[in-house]
Amino acid sequence: MADLETSLLQALHAQEVIADSGDLAKSLGVEHIVLVGTIRSLQASEMIIAEDIDHFRYVLTDEAQGYLTAGSPEAQVFNAVPAGEGITLAELKARVPGEAGDVGFKQAMQQRWLALDKSAAGEPRVVRKVDAIEDRTQQLLADVTGGRELPKAEAESLAKKRKLIKPEQWKTYKLTKGPKFALERKKPATDLTFEMMSKGTWRTQEFKDYNFNALGVPPPSGQLHPLLKVRSQFRKIFTQMGFEEMPTNQYVESSFWNFDALFQPQQHPARDAHDTFFLTKPANTPADRGVDKDYLNRVKSVHEMGGYGSVGYGYSWKLAESEKNLLRTHTTAVSSRMLYRLANQPGGFKPAKYFSIDRVFRNEQVDRTHLAEFHQVEGLVCDRGLTLGDLIGVLNQFFSRLGLKKLRFKPAFNPYTEPSMEIFSYSEQLGKWMEVGNSGMFRPEMLRPMGLPEDVNVIAWGLSLERPTMILYGIDNIRDLFGHKVSLSMVRKNPLCRLGL
Ligand code: PHE
Repeated sequence: MADLETSLLQALHAQEVIADSGDLAKSLGVEHIVLVGTIRSLQASEMIIAEDIDHFRYVLTDEAQGYLTAGSPEAQVFNAVPAGEGITLAELKARVPGEAGDVGFKQAMQQRWLALDKSAAGEPRVVRKVDAIEDRTQQLLADVTGGRELPKAEAESLAKKRKLIKPEQWKTYKLTKGPKFALERKKPATDLTFEMMSKGTWRTQEFKDYNFNALGVPPPSGQLHPLLKVRSQFRKIFTQMGFEEMPTNQYVESSFWNFDALFQPQQHPARDAHDTFFLTKPANTPADRGVDKDYLNRVKSVHEMGGYGSVGYGYSWKLAESEKNLLRTHTTAVSSRMLYRLANQPGGFKPAKYFSIDRVFRNEQVDRTHLAEFHQVEGLVCDRGLTLGDLIGVLNQFFSRLGLKKLRFKPAFNPYTEPSMEIFSYSEQLGKWMEVGNSGMFRPEMLRPMGLPEDVNVIAWGLSLERPTMILYGIDNIRDLFGHKVSLSMVRKNPLCRLGL
């Protein structure tokens, strides 16, 4: 529409004032509505000033269009009645059918153009009461079409009672030159260039105003998955409490570190293929790889006959069973490796606080809250003379940093801890106690064969990473959080995680 813009600017330049943009549109041969776009854009650039001119007129309704040539309903009905003896109602209805007939008859009677003659026997007859009529309604409709103004009362009656005309409103504009009037629009520069600087044209160059509300281009970047956001918060809490992270980069473990070292008997149901994923290639890790022979024998013996105050399980421990490779079922496998290393480090035992957050695998029935893999958060403190009171104290500290301040403990069972406690937290949101983790003190049957001194205890606890993540982000189906059905836009738009530190 640049042409239209030029025409408008030239017209305004020549005339100084354009009294009505409607006339300009006519002289340019365009619909006024087309010109409005140009006017608005020039006004926004302060090249012209546009003042509203309000217009009002009546236009014919669809029904009235037909009466413009055929005559108003009342005239049609009058003309259908022959002078003299007249016509029956039924005959009249046949001659002027439909609504025009009904309305026309009513109007003609009201005008006293017609009357109903009941004097003769038989059907009453419609007869003329005047010789000729003037079709005022048709005349008024023609006036409306011709743009002539109607007397107020008649206009209102046609608009409101008979609905033959309707009001129409529109705007045109009075145009004058604006402060930045020019015959051609100058495009303001968006940037200061080297050329403007060197030629000095920046002095006269018009610049586009800065839009400080513009959002800008989002910088290309990766996004953390919600699980990783929550994991980094857990990490922060652990490191603030002085815990050191354990190396968890080993999904495949031998049964020895995952179960045997933890005093989990070889017949335990968790060691069945129904619960654990065993590897076929390679199916085994030979015991002489990484495990000290004496330690291995102490583990065998504590399972079979006990020791350190225990009677053991009294079964025949099989080396082959402990060599089976599996996908680790808990990160406690990592903890057992670390505790063994701690017991045997050069310079002897030193107290330690360790944590890990990583993936574990279980042969589970998959449903909306379970997958065959999930992440475990695990913490442990290894020191002399620790008690259950220390465990409860550390748990209170840890969970209150997560924002869970009300805890309760319930006795539980793990093959590797005694005592063991399930951890419950009161959810104000849900109004009930929720299980948030599992904990305990590692058994002497686990710690002493490793070589840890008699007075050293280990308190430990574990929880899933998925559960708090789903609660924090309001995700109720685990398949929306993890796996091939996760929507990438969920990951992209997912907000920051700030746990109640
Ligand atoms: N390993 C336990 C589990 O898988 C969690 C746990 C860790 C329990 C440490 C006690 C001590 O549920």
